[in-house]
Amino acid sequence: MSPPPRKIIIDTDPGIDDAMAILYALAAPELEVVGLTTVFGNAHVELCTTNAFHILDVAGRSDIPVAHGAGRPLAMPYRGPAAFVHGENGLADIAFHDARRAPHELDAAHFIIEQVLAAPGEITLVPIGPLTNIALAMLLRPDLPQHLAGMVIMGGNAFCPGNASPAAEANIINDPEAADLVFGADCPIVMCGLDVTERTVMTGAQIDEIARIDTPRARLAAQILPHYREFHRASHGLDGIHVHDSTCVSYMIAPQHYASVLRPIRVDCGHHVGRGKTWPSLSDQAHGGEWKNRPPVTILTEVDSAAVVDLELNRLASV
Ligand code: RIB
Ligand code: CA
Repeated sequence: MSPPPRKIIIDTDPGIDDAMAILYALAAPELEVVGLTTVFGNAHVELCTTNAFHILDVAGRSDIPVAHGAGRPLAMPYRGPAAFVHGENGLADIAFHDARRAPHELDAAHFIIEQVLAAPGEITLVPIGPLTNIALAMLLRPDLPQHLAGMVIMGGNAFCPGNASPAAEANIINDPEAADLVFGADCPIVMCGLDVTERTVMTGAQIDEIARIDTPRARLAAQILPHYREFHRASHGLDGIHVHDSTCVSYMIAPQHYASVLRPIRVDCGHHVGRGKTWPSLSDQAHGGEWKNRPPVTILTEVDSAAVVDLELNRLASV
């Protein structure tokens, strides 16, 4: 007898890899996507909300609510969209009809609070963009973490360089203050950082295989992945893509393919070269000083890349 699906809210800035992660989660019977909440990041939040609707429409899941979220970080201007990575519209500049739906009546932070308090202990937040909405929800309801099943976060870089700067990963550098608050939440947190996502590679040949699958979801993937593949070729000399956001889904449905360490985390909120760096403590015990009273975070450190990419592709081809 299979256990009931785990309820998740995906907080997202779609975003090509966000789109892949959302399609992947929707194809996973182990998960129930309760809703999407949108946030600035790869594109302006208005475009992220439109993109979220389009992804759900393609997947035939227009029943899933989308709550519109933060358009800027807590304490700094928005750094601007990553058009060179995701295209001007956030989804490889593909053309699609505008969503016919309106966002949920609640904004992202209030939607998260409403959903979590209505199902205490059942919902896992899956943030795959800047952590602003999660931080806002925690500021509104400091007790929110107590009612969460946990958080599985794509963001950060514990023991490796960043990708948005030598120090920092893109989601974290987009709102370090929010990230430092969220990584201090007293609930189970898993950090799917660059330590594993940059070592999870979907090859060019595998991307070519997707183009041979004749389903709406695979067709969307085949439309948006070439732009992302070209970014990786030009920036990393890689024929393939780093699988960032889908790592959260792979971890939730197949944790056996990962290794991890437990460390409290602080985020550098300074205004110098290190801004946005996620710093694990020296051991699984919160030291004094800046890591004092910080709960340990499960930091993914190793991944079986072939296994998790095969899993994602098999799920994409299964619907
Ligand atoms: O660093 C990778 C992260 O930044 C991913 O979430 C990607 O979508 C971008 O938001
Ligand atoms: Ca993202």
